[in-house]
Amino acid sequence: MHSPFDLRKPIAIGSDHAGYEYKEDLISFLEGKGLAFKDFGTHSKDSVDYPDFAHPVASAVESGEYAFGILLCGTANGVAITANKHQGIRAALCWGEEIAKVVRQHNDANIICIPARFVREGDAEKMVALFMTTEFEGGRHAARVNKIACA
Ligand code: RB5
Repeated sequence: MHSPFDLRKPIAIGSDHAGYEYKEDLISFLEGKGLAFKDFGTHSKDSVDYPDFAHPVASAVESGEYAFGILLCGTANGVAITANKHQGIRAALCWGEEIAKVVRQHNDANIICIPARFVREGDAEKMVALFMTTEFEGGRHAARVNKIACA
């Protein structure tokens, strides 16, 4: 599979309880493709706080030791808001295939955030597949991405 990400590195994946079942499904999807990953939890449907999982995934991606990140919660807003506190992170909330491509093409997103309560499980897999294979277009989009980080 061609990817703009360095898939020799593991993919960082995490969720809260609302995203747990979709996370498990996506882990099977990654395993099926022979991709390395690290599961940052959560590990059950028991209620947890999404920042406790979004921060470790964001730190892992920011470190450069992981190819990219996948985060899930009910709406994906909690994990996206949390991950985007990290300077090196561009976490994008995605609810469909076209969005999952465009956040790569235009925003060079490095974490995909999926709202488990608002998308079908199969669509989550399709979005991850598109996210991990779509190139950043650069050009005018690079100029904009370069203006995102706070000084
Ligand atoms: C959990 O009930 C829910 O609030 C959480 O998964 C997420 O949607 C928060 O943004």
